[in-house]
Amino acid sequence: MLNSEKPIGVFDSGIGGLTVVKKLQASLPNERIIYFGDTARVPYGAKSNDTITEYAIQDADFLINKNVKMIIVACNTVSSVALNILQERYNVPVIGMIEPGTDLALSSTENKNIGVIGTYSTIRNKAYSKMLTAKNSDLNVFEKACPLFVPLAEEGWTDHKATYLIAREYLSEFREKNIDTLILGCTHYPILSNVIQEVVGEDVKLIDSGTAAAATIEKHPELEELLSKKIVSGNHEYYVSDLPVKFKTIAERFLGRTIENVEKIDPEQL
Ligand code: DGL
Repeated sequence: MLNSEKPIGVFDSGIGGLTVVKKLQASLPNERIIYFGDTARVPYGAKSNDTITEYAIQDADFLINKNVKMIIVACNTVSSVALNILQERYNVPVIGMIEPGTDLALSSTENKNIGVIGTYSTIRNKAYSKMLTAKNSDLNVFEKACPLFVPLAEEGWTDHKATYLIAREYLSEFREKNIDTLILGCTHYPILSNVIQEVVGEDVKLIDSGTAAAATIEKHPELEELLSKKIVSGNHEYYVSDLPVKFKTIAERFLGRTIENVEKIDPEQL
């Protein structure tokens, strides 16, 4: 099989990486995607760097065994902790979320006040603030961990009053900071973007790291030759490490299409 005809591997701790898959399916319709969501072990965001790295290697090895041509780490938490380790381990390109999200935020901000929300891990590791200020020292970056957004997204509570309540608790402080750009530094968060937008105000530009990463893949000269020149036969495949029923319902609602192939794999075998 030509390299370009192989599938693209995408993984996340759960359903969040589907926000990246949705963008990829829209912008690269020729590509076949193999998705893995580690639904048995979500959330990753409150775990130690060692545990996150261990899980990340198992998740990526699973995709490598499916003969993927590149890996998209559709998880900011893993991207902020283990991207280099994964890039050194495999001889296929491994794309993370932090740099594309950073670049998009830098091109969006006018007043140089940028907010970042993410998991405990992403915020603790200062993944975005370090990269933002390395690329432009003249910025004010305000970061906040919003861990409860992950289970709310997994539950599909995209318009629930509890979600509004929690969003106001987390995000009200950004109103005083006069931010004009907010990085959704967790791939679960775009699922809740309506609520987040309403709470921070319509004037604030939300940066979806998945959109940014999908654009990187399309434009990157070395990656371009890996992309399929024709529609590759076969369906997308979805794997989860816990019961697929809920995953399937939420995924179908989110992707706006039926998905046939959701298979549960045993986390012990990862
Ligand atoms: N969706 C992931 C991220 O982008 C992780 C959420 C979690 O497992 O805590 O950070």
